[in-house]
Amino acid sequence: MQIKLYYKNVLADVIGEEHGITSTQFEDIAAQTLPLITRLNKERQKGKDCKTPYRNLPSDTDIRKKVNDLVAEVEDHCDTLVVFGIGGSALGNIALQTALNPYMYNIDPNQRSGPQLFVFDNVDPAQLSSFFDWLGDGLDRTIFNVISKSGRTAETASQLLVVREMLLDRLPPDSLKEHIVATTGFDTDDEGNLKSTLLTIANDAKLPTLEVPNGVGGRFTVLSAVGLFSAAMCGIDIDALLAGAADMDARVSCENFTNNPAAINAAINYHFYTRGKKNSVIMPYCYALKDMADWYRQLWAESLGKSTDLDGRKVFIGPTPIKALGATDQHSQVQLYREGPNDKLFTFLQVKDFDAEIKTGPAPECTSDLDFLANIELSTLLNNEKRATEYALLQDRRPCLTVHFDKVNAYTVGQFICLFEVTTSFAGALFNINPYDQPAVELGKEAAFALMGKPGDYKKSWTYKDFADEIRSRTDIDKNFLV
Ligand code: PA5
Repeated sequence: MQIKLYYKNVLADVIGEEHGITSTQFEDIAAQTLPLITRLNKERQKGKDCKTPYRNLPSDTDIRKKVNDLVAEVEDHCDTLVVFGIGGSALGNIALQTALNPYMYNIDPNQRSGPQLFVFDNVDPAQLSSFFDWLGDGLDRTIFNVISKSGRTAETASQLLVVREMLLDRLPPDSLKEHIVATTGFDTDDEGNLKSTLLTIANDAKLPTLEVPNGVGGRFTVLSAVGLFSAAMCGIDIDALLAGAADMDARVSCENFTNNPAAINAAINYHFYTRGKKNSVIMPYCYALKDMADWYRQLWAESLGKSTDLDGRKVFIGPTPIKALGATDQHSQVQLYREGPNDKLFTFLQVKDFDAEIKTGPAPECTSDLDFLANIELSTLLNNEKRATEYALLQDRRPCLTVHFDKVNAYTVGQFICLFEVTTSFAGALFNINPYDQPAVELGKEAAFALMGKPGDYKKSWTYKDFADEIRSRTDIDKNFLV
């Protein structure tokens, strides 16, 4: 069962030459992208210098074994699993859960085969207090999976400090190791010191640990222990997930452009970006795929939003990813999408068979207005809504792609993840930028450290204190401008 990318509706034959891709342009982008397929395939052979180690995750049996062993060890004493993480250390977990477990998983014990799962990717005190009030004595059957590749992200580290104190306060002193699983980077600096503060804490308290593989950026880690542990705990078939990703990995390695869905997807996205369509809307017509749009949004934004290209030129490049949900956002966004600026590429996610079906009843006799909706399947309505929106957009010459799923299951979701990760690598190569770093995110993290009073040096010639003063002088609310 393979997902497919349908791209006819971006072509000039469908939406005209002004906005669509002509056959000559298609040949041009194919010629430009083809060598990148070979380049990306060769990248994998570079050993420790390889920039795409994320592509080895689907076949890494060692990670899978460590995750499965830990799940077997802890599942019997866990009714509630909490993930603490942010960005790439949370969005994949959320996306897998929404995609592959029932909507009422957390509420209905009959609909779940693992613990209730809560992923907190923020430090909002009201949100966390409400959770802890609900949890109450359930703390002693709760596991906190603290995920941070760097092991020093302020939001995640402070969440750890909250639960560490709570556990020490309410449970026996050596209970930390039964309640916290640390997922973090294991690498060391040039002097051999652990880079991750989380790992130092984990080693000290003898917490079980899982590794975030070296060289894999947060947003590419969902198929590592980062995403796999919570997925496996909650009954998701991680073997099928990884097998699906491996299946797609073979397809996106194909050195024939027209058979390579990631190369085509990246080339089309690149083409439209360079012709003024700088926004990329992803619109699943399936609730289960809703949070995959969030995952994609981070992947696309952090990977491709870059100021400097690989030749050191200032380029300030990057398509803006926008998430929408069909049919919901037909009633909130499509007015803009059709009549606003023609500056977007649309990618629909369409599903043929939903896991369940619901039929409407007969229409009341007092009117014939609803006869057309009587005794129909809701999946038929939802898929027709997708076609209707796509048709309406095409009428206004807006380019549309569709990723087609026969079904949403672990195997097809694994394919989707791999497809979009490798698309991102191709897009990075087309834009001539490094899609694997996130320097702009790092500055914000350091600035937060400084404002929170971290001691020491921010940069060689600048202490955190100086840095904090500079930040405050630029961001204090000036009453002269307060209305
Ligand atoms: O993709 C990324 O690298 C980021 O979004 C990180 O995942 C995010 O900033 C969290 O970092 P960490 O896992 O180091 O706490």
